[in-house]
Amino acid sequence: MLLKVVSVVGARPNFMKIAALCNAIMEFNKSGPRQVIHHILVHTGQHYDFNMSGSFFDDLDLPTPDIFLEVGSASHSEQTARILERFDGVLHKENPDLVIVVGDVNSTMACALVTKKTWCVTACASGKDHKYIPALAHIEAGLRSFDRTMPEEVNRVVTDCLSDYLFTTEESANRNLLHEGISENKIHFVGNVMIDTLLQYQRKAQQSTILTDLKLLDHSGVSPYAVLTLHRPSNVDDSTRFSRVVNTLVEVSSHVPVIFPAHPRTLKEIQRSEMRHFFSDHTNREASGASGRITLIPSLGYLDFVRLISEAKVVLTDSGGVQEETSILGVPCLTLRDTTERPVTVESGTK
Ligand code: UD1
Repeated sequence: MLLKVVSVVGARPNFMKIAALCNAIMEFNKSGPRQVIHHILVHTGQHYDFNMSGSFFDDLDLPTPDIFLEVGSASHSEQTARILERFDGVLHKENPDLVIVVGDVNSTMACALVTKKTWCVTACASGKDHKYIPALAHIEAGLRSFDRTMPEEVNRVVTDCLSDYLFTTEESANRNLLHEGISENKIHFVGNVMIDTLLQYQRKAQQSTILTDLKLLDHSGVSPYAVLTLHRPSNVDDSTRFSRVVNTLVEVSSHVPVIFPAHPRTLKEIQRSEMRHFFSDHTNREASGASGRITLIPSLGYLDFVRLISEAKVVLTDSGGVQEETSILGVPCLTLRDTTERPVTVESGTK
């Protein structure tokens, strides 16, 4: 029997999660006498810059998406609406048995919603049409920051309450789902696919030249540095909050160079702001003196980023995924948020 599976990616944090799944499906199909899973990869196009999307497909050996929806950037509602409309067409054409969504971005929630509102049709052996709603699986289910002003929190809650299979990464997620009344037999505590990918690509990342490119490595070894990532609307969209965070980080950079691969939205925010003189780019880091200035670089591909954080003295971040990665790599991490949906990174991680 052939199982038809549609999986969805849209934004940067989805790609490393789906990589482990693509590999597992390929291995599974190779292990039997014939292909049993027909896998269709859909990219919504929520992220579209090479640095935010294409470079991850290259680094992670991901297959080219079978379907590309090209939704691009817009307000959350408009972006979600575009995905709803375009993914509806995909389901009616493909009639899958199962849809798999990962993480908590707008593409995750939008495709989950469409899945549970769509009647697919296949022909039975009797010649009659069989009408059904595809099953929905959510990978990285149950995480909760309990802050509904975070767009991701809304995406998580909606996706989880619609899903038939909820795959969880930490104990807190199991508790949250049970507390919300989700039946225990839908919850599967399987671990973290993003970490599976990290462990798989850790050695390949050693070959990245990013430390030499940023003049952080010479014949005497790696010089100490910190890595910063910052892109959450709660940190960068509010200018008072952003200015407070930047002032603190400038203080840090007078003790140790702070390397900041910036998300395009943060980069735009900095270039527009009064605070741009607190930042230098890596080409003039030495000329201007690392001390007291944050070194701004464009967002990095997967292997370069893994190499950069692996050798850092400390990572300062508002990204949930980076909190998890540093915990596994044993690199100290300071979480620049008031809440986290991944409490295990604070209780057992490298806080
Ligand atoms: C999204 C996710 C967030 C995730 C982050 C990782 C949601 C609600 N948020 O936030 O959970 O941590 O991705 O990066 O889904 N832009 C570009 N090029 C791109 C993509 C975006 O320049 O390839 C700019 C555009 O100006 C866009 C802005 O970034 O308006 C925001 O992009 P968007 O996808 O809406 O959300 P992110 O902040 O990236």
